[in-house]
Amino acid sequence: MDRDTIAWDAENGTIEFLDQTLLPGEVRIVRCGDVERLAQAIRRLEIRGAPALGVAGAYGVALAVHRSTARDLSALQQEASHAADILAATRPTAVNLAWGTSRVLSRVMASASPDEAKDAAIREAKAIATEDVELCKRIGEHGAALLPDACTVLTHCNAGALACVRWGTALGVIRSAVEAGKQVSVIACETRPLFQGSRLTAWELANDGIDVRVIPDSAAAHLMHKGRIDAVVVGADRVTNDTVFNKIGTYMHAVCARHHAVPFYVAAPYSTFDAASSEGDVVIELRSRDEIAWCGDRLLLPAGVDALNYAFDATPLDLVTALVTERGVFHPPVSTEGLNRARRTI
Ligand code: MRU
Repeated sequence: MDRDTIAWDAENGTIEFLDQTLLPGEVRIVRCGDVERLAQAIRRLEIRGAPALGVAGAYGVALAVHRSTARDLSALQQEASHAADILAATRPTAVNLAWGTSRVLSRVMASASPDEAKDAAIREAKAIATEDVELCKRIGEHGAALLPDACTVLTHCNAGALACVRWGTALGVIRSAVEAGKQVSVIACETRPLFQGSRLTAWELANDGIDVRVIPDSAAAHLMHKGRIDAVVVGADRVTNDTVFNKIGTYMHAVCARHHAVPFYVAAPYSTFDAASSEGDVVIELRSRDEIAWCGDRLLLPAGVDALNYAFDATPLDLVTALVTERGVFHPPVSTEGLNRARRTI
């Protein structure tokens, strides 16, 4: 992609982001000047994907501080804290969001004056965004080395440039492999119900000239059975000491991959690691019936029939062949010490 998914517009004091709900039909940049609008954008998945949510949370707290008219430091800090709470509550599963808000908030809390707080908040949010690109590049390099010179990779949801600032995690691995001269074909699962695979992954890979075909999610097992998939590479919303949380359907691919002896790789930066938590500590977001009941303006569910719309699922770490991080490749079982090493900042 030739632009960042999300960025700070210093001239206008706003956040600019690409509205992902409109892709692939329309590329629209949204200028956002208040925290409530940003929270809405996150809830509606205009901005989505764990690393991008971390950056959005960071910019959101910076925006609140930047726009504040409070003259008194403690009032400004309260506003920042309130903004962080609103944003962190929008989506509960991806740990990056709260990580991004709290990283900027801690700068605000450590400041000695409102001016210092404003400056520190913007600088920290920008640093998080810059760091994200660097982390993805490193993840890409480590992950690319795992892929054969010619291979077909299955991915789920969108863990690409759109889910980060640029480059991507799982798609970063694929981009880096292609950049290194490997011949990689991608099978993108469409990823019901919001189609991040067909709308977003296929869009960004096709734009980069990377070979991509889209399958219904339910075709993955068949392709593995036929020996058509050499590796599965996905991103993550949170990695605890026992579990990878990622888009609903990921667990199904991990089980199938194990059954067919296909390597299953999870690519994620340190901000996605939550080594202090276990599976049971994590809230899996339950989204609206409407996302399943409607496809555009077409009704797919009979009136009176409910849906069960979990946005993410939990894949036990022992189904993961390797965790690909900016610090290298970790093979489960990974000790808490190993997870902490993966989590340490660059
Ligand atoms: O609901 P979404 O679209 O935010 O879900 C995104 C995913 O599940 C991604 O795979 C994950 O955030 C990793 S993005 C690098």
